[in-house]
Amino acid sequence: GLPTRVRIHEVGPRDGLQNEKTLVPAAVKAEFIHRLAEAGLTTIEATSFVHPKWVPQLADAEELMELIDDVDARLPVLVPNERGLDRALALGAREIAVFASATESFAKANLNRTVDGALEMFEPVVTKAKDAGAAVRGYLSMCFGDPWEGPVPISQTVSVSRRLMDMGCDEISLGDTIGVATPGHVREVLDTLNEAGVADDRLAVHFHDTYGQALANTLAALEHGVTTVDASAGGLGGCPYAKSATGNLATEDLVWMLDGLGIETGVDIGRLTATSVWMARHLGRPSPSRTVRALSQK
Ligand code: HMG
Ligand code: MG
Repeated sequence: GLPTRVRIHEVGPRDGLQNEKTLVPAAVKAEFIHRLAEAGLTTIEATSFVHPKWVPQLADAEELMELIDDVDARLPVLVPNERGLDRALALGAREIAVFASATESFAKANLNRTVDGALEMFEPVVTKAKDAGAAVRGYLSMCFGDPWEGPVPISQTVSVSRRLMDMGCDEISLGDTIGVATPGHVREVLDTLNEAGVADDRLAVHFHDTYGQALANTLAALEHGVTTVDASAGGLGGCPYAKSATGNLATEDLVWMLDGLGIETGVDIGRLTATSVWMARHLGRPSPSRTVRALSQK
């Protein structure tokens, strides 16, 4: 059966904006995050404490954190290493995410490490974050397919997930970075993870909508038992280090489906759509979300 409530993990300010060519000023990002919280989103991934040369769009992480310290929501941030964690904790971050890869090609492209080397880099980060009382999410990219390696064996996804759990991650977010997954594949990956001891209540799903499958995949995950879903306001997004990664599942498309199913999210779709229309104006191009387009043309 379906859950009665879903927690949306909003990634627009981070996964969305990291891929934008135009640099968005910190003040605009801060207004974006305030507006997302006012629309009812309770978890808003704010930024990343990565090397500024790797992701120039998020080089203003310090400045942004100070502009959002009054936001009433969980505000996780990405950190790849101890340097990133120290920067985040110094600004009062209460929730962090490390980001692993199921494939060697993406570990190299995204983190300049092997899969094992990246996990070794994360281990002291997770320990130190938990000692500081911060919650830790572990992202796992390329769970379904990889742009360089093709289909990804489920055993790779399962083994890296297990290692992230064993390291102390509270939650694992399964990333379909390039949007190639289909619902049967999602069910198979979740079944195999459950058999390996990674239960649905410790999992989130992170779908990109490259092939228009994100919503169908989400429904398959909800029917399976997952209740945390990543989405990006207006469908912003992608990944600068993965060929052919386009926008995430749009939060409005997700909320439209969940509202229709009578599943609670706490999100006001009208206020959210207005926010995405406002952000699209800043970016100089229309939102790719069908729901945003439909609701804003009314
Ligand atoms: P590296 O070049 O191997 O770094 O990059 P290093 O450890 O050799 O250090 C080199 C220099 O970087 C040093 O400075 C460090 O201090 C500095 P120098 O001594 O040369 O002056 N440095 C830092 N500076 C600031 N903040 C830091 C930091 N770390 C090192 N945290 C590194 C390794 C991990 C740093 C780099 O590869 C990196 O920053 N990668 C980030 C890539 C990224 O953010 N990708 C997007 C997020 S993942 C994603 O989008 C997928 C997801 O959405 C899920 C999905 O869809 O699948 C999550
Ligand atoms: Mg992503």
